[in-house]
Amino acid sequence: MIIATADRLKTIKEYYFSKKLEVIRHMQTRGLKVINLGIGNPDLSPSSDVIEDTTQALQKQESHGYATYRSSFELRRSISKWYQRTYGVRLDPECQILPLLGSKEGIFYVSLTFLNPGDRVLVPNPGYPAYSSAASLVGAQVHYYQLEERNSWYPDWEALEAMDLSGFKLMWVNYPHMPTGAKATDSVFSKLVEFGRKRRILICHDNPYSLMLNSESPKSILNSDPQLEVSLELNSMSKSFSMAGWRVGMLMTNEQVINSVLQVKSNVDSGMFLAIQAGAIAALRNSDNWHKERNRVYKQRRIVIYKIFDLLGFQYTQNQEGMFVWAKAPEHIPDVSQFLDVVLEKTLVFITPGIVFGTNGQRYARASLCAPIEVLHEAADKIQGALQSLFQSHYGEEQ
Ligand SMILES: Cc1ncc(COP(=O)(O)O)c(C=O)c1O
Repeated sequence: MIIATADRLKTIKEYYFSKKLEVIRHMQTRGLKVINLGIGNPDLSPSSDVIEDTTQALQKQESHGYATYRSSFELRRSISKWYQRTYGVRLDPECQILPLLGSKEGIFYVSLTFLNPGDRVLVPNPGYPAYSSAASLVGAQVHYYQLEERNSWYPDWEALEAMDLSGFKLMWVNYPHMPTGAKATDSVFSKLVEFGRKRRILICHDNPYSLMLNSESPKSILNSDPQLEVSLELNSMSKSFSMAGWRVGMLMTNEQVINSVLQVKSNVDSGMFLAIQAGAIAALRNSDNWHKERNRVYKQRRIVIYKIFDLLGFQYTQNQEGMFVWAKAPEHIPDVSQFLDVVLEKTLVFITPGIVFGTNGQRYARASLCAPIEVLHEAADKIQGALQSLFQSHYGEEQ
């Protein structure tokens, strides 16, 4: 018997990486060693305090039951102290912070909380695909706002102002921007908050990369909206604390929005495992030096990624933040996705085509810094060794 799935499934596709990683796993079961520079999955370890405090919590009988829906006050207080220390933002741990099982779930909860079918949402092109999937799944209408290299990947304010914005409720923004690495700036955040206030649109800032290869002190949009009137911020421990598998994220905004999101969330998940909360609390105490050391490692790796893109003839800027390098294909590569499939096939090195993040990413590729430097050198060697055949099979003739 075949039972029809819900119509809402027609509005989304399986997540690109869910599919692609399956292909890579297949290649691996055939004995092929694939170097995966596709995803931002940190391979570095969390701090030793994280492991120690989690292990201790595991030994305690009381850790194993359901946790509270809002998470412990201690975790919320740790987040509040970290926000004050890192971003200079004061938050009340009682009512302005909600820990999440990763920020990705926050994107879905915020969408479920605010969007009725037919409501309209502004989503960046290119951008993290979950913003549009979440909107589509709840029956909202996605409208892409264009981010382009000629505007340094910042919104085109004139184009936004000229839009008919009736029916728009949410706008997703994300600086440092994934996938382009564009930096967060106070002026962009102030403009966004002003735009949200004027147009009565909730500005949802997704901020997982502010500590990753940042050239200035990390920024939060909440500084531009001190009364937390029109903005919310999601943050994540996945990247900057090397804890992606732990699934710890957080939502910061005013009490009313926190309570509304909790209304949804408490009906879906049943809290964060207490031992993981203990680890998160320990991580939030990581010193500036711990973060500096992590960035030192990523910075060294980035030099090898530059080499890989140089070999392929792709162009990039060196002032990107986050944990990727975003690079533009040369004119003589007509189809970047197809070319990167050839790279995978011939060299077993996987690099993500920019089209995954939206049509404005079509001429670009994104490589992750999440592999040890010796593996990156190996990838560069393989690409160098296969250069001729790469271009031959792509064009059908020698270049
Ligand atoms: C822009 C952006 N937002 C959110 C996430 C999800 O992070 P988390 O692991 O906290 O769910 C990612 C993960 O790749 C991301 O790139």
